Amino acid sequence: MEFYDVIRSRRSCRVFSDRPVEKEKLERIVEAATWAPSGKNRQNWRIFVVTGDRKEELVQVADRSFPFLEPSLRKLYDEKVVNFTRNFFRTLGGAPVLLVFYSAHTDEGQFVDTQSVSAAIENALLAAAYEGLGGCWMTNPVHLEEETSGILGVEDLKLIAFVPVGYPGKEPPVPPRKEGRVTWVGFD
Ligand SMILES: Cc1cc2nc3c(=O)[nH]c(=O)nc-3n(C[C@H](O)[C@H](O)[C@H](O)COP(=O)(O)O)c2cc1C
Repeated sequence: MEFYDVIRSRRSCRVFSDRPVEKEKLERIVEAATWAPSGKNRQNWRIFVVTGDRKEELVQVADRSFPFLEPSLRKLYDEKVVNFTRNFFRTLGGAPVLLVFYSAHTDEGQFVDTQSVSAAIENALLAAAYEGLGGCWMTNPVHLEEETSGILGVEDLKLIAFVPVGYPGKEPPVPPRKEGRVTWVGFD
């Protein structure tokens, strides 16, 4: 796939097939994540690739995090979208694998640390798209950081996002891109 096609084909996937994901693909995806830029090259991302019972426990955490999202979702979307999203949080769309992104604490501060991990997340999502896989960047479960870290045996890391990964079970819709987001300065 051409580079710009990969970028355009990446979609937030919320329905997955139960087809298992090859470990080599996951290895390439997390390696791509680690090639992201990071503030002062701290490489402060910490990535957990989770499947099996622990993934199921984390799906329950995602489900319990939904009430934190619901009020703002209701302000923006109709009941159909709210119900779809509630069901997605209940099962994580049946994704066979869950990537959990954390940040180590650095003296750069949270602003820089989070941006560095975000760059790694985007690399992972693009690599997943290139591998024919879908993923969804989810920040809402950070409301339940303590529970998540308890399940993964994590200490002293900041939870940044959940990214369920798998083969898409359904072609995700393409949200149109909004106009007026770019300003050209000094061009004719
Ligand atoms: C920082 C960030 C947080 C997000 N959190 C969630 C989330 O908690 N749950 C969810 O379903 N999608 C989440 N998304 C996905 C967005 O809803 C999605 O990117 C957006 O609707 C555009 O769709 P697209 O990714 O297919 O282009 C998040 C995306 C970003 C970048």
